[in-house]
Amino acid sequence: MKADKTIVLTFSPTRTSRRIGEAIARGLSCGQTEVMDLTCNGKPTLPDITTGTLVVISVPVYGGMVAPIAMERMVALQLNGAPCVINVTYGNRAYEQSLNQLDAFIREHGGKTIAAGAFVGEHSYSNGQYPIAAGRPDRKDLEEAEQFGRKIRQRIIAADNPERIAAVDVKLLPDPAMSDATMLQFRNDVQQALKRQPAINSAPVTDAGLCTHCGTCVLHCPTHAIEKGNECHTDASKCIKCCACVKTCPQRARTYETPFSNLLNKYFNTPKRNLTLA
Ligand SMILES: Cc1cc2nc3c(=O)[nH]c(=O)nc-3n(C[C@H](O)[C@H](O)[C@H](O)COP(=O)(O)O)c2cc1C
Repeated sequence: MKADKTIVLTFSPTRTSRRIGEAIARGLSCGQTEVMDLTCNGKPTLPDITTGTLVVISVPVYGGMVAPIAMERMVALQLNGAPCVINVTYGNRAYEQSLNQLDAFIREHGGKTIAAGAFVGEHSYSNGQYPIAAGRPDRKDLEEAEQFGRKIRQRIIAADNPERIAAVDVKLLPDPAMSDATMLQFRNDVQQALKRQPAINSAPVTDAGLCTHCGTCVLHCPTHAIEKGNECHTDASKCIKCCACVKTCPQRARTYETPFSNLLNKYFNTPKRNLTLA
């Protein structure tokens, strides 16, 4: 087998995409694995992709597409014919166009998608009151991701060379979106909620009584919307509502109130299964 290095490229504010990408790479066990996390790296120096490098890209779904900031951070990527394994992580609602979008990106940047996955991760807007895919990826999900990696490895071994492996058609992966009627009802409810509550928080808020100014939120914010020393303020114009600050705050001082939490919990509480194509 000629793959001697695996690069995991990820953008992952709440770390679900990263953990899934790493689990896939464990299953692949193709040479040394290097993880390049673009989450807090606004101007990344992207890796040189040379012959024998396998690329795993794992990114979250925002609004049915790949998180726009993830695409921005990968814009200069040159894949030089590299075989790529792609994964979109979504919060148990739907991944819609994101996988096609990522596959098109791979082709435009000179790579080849040899395997694709859509894994479920805890929704960024999940909270104690309104859990949405809470705790996912769990142990079983990560085992599935590793198994997926092992399956790809078998194909690579059988082909004797990853560069000879055929591309997969990502359109063959079914989107487990709900029935049109339910999705319409969900969207109607969202519209109604936004009408009732037009002044929803445009960024997470901090409980000043709980905040210890430890700076964890500053470190984890992908867009530098929070400044050290001024942790109780979030620059809403920079905030992408990824909820990294909410989920990493050791004091649970940060919350993000959105009617989406309640509605996602109501409509998307049946756990979806992970889908893979290899
Ligand atoms: C702004 C935003 C939009 C989202 N849109 C979707 C969506 O369209 N469908 C879905 O199932 N989950 C959606 N999610 C949930 C994330 O895809 C999910 O929580 C994912 O696991 C987050 O990945 P990360 O842990 O790598 O940040 C959205 C989350 C955010 C913050």
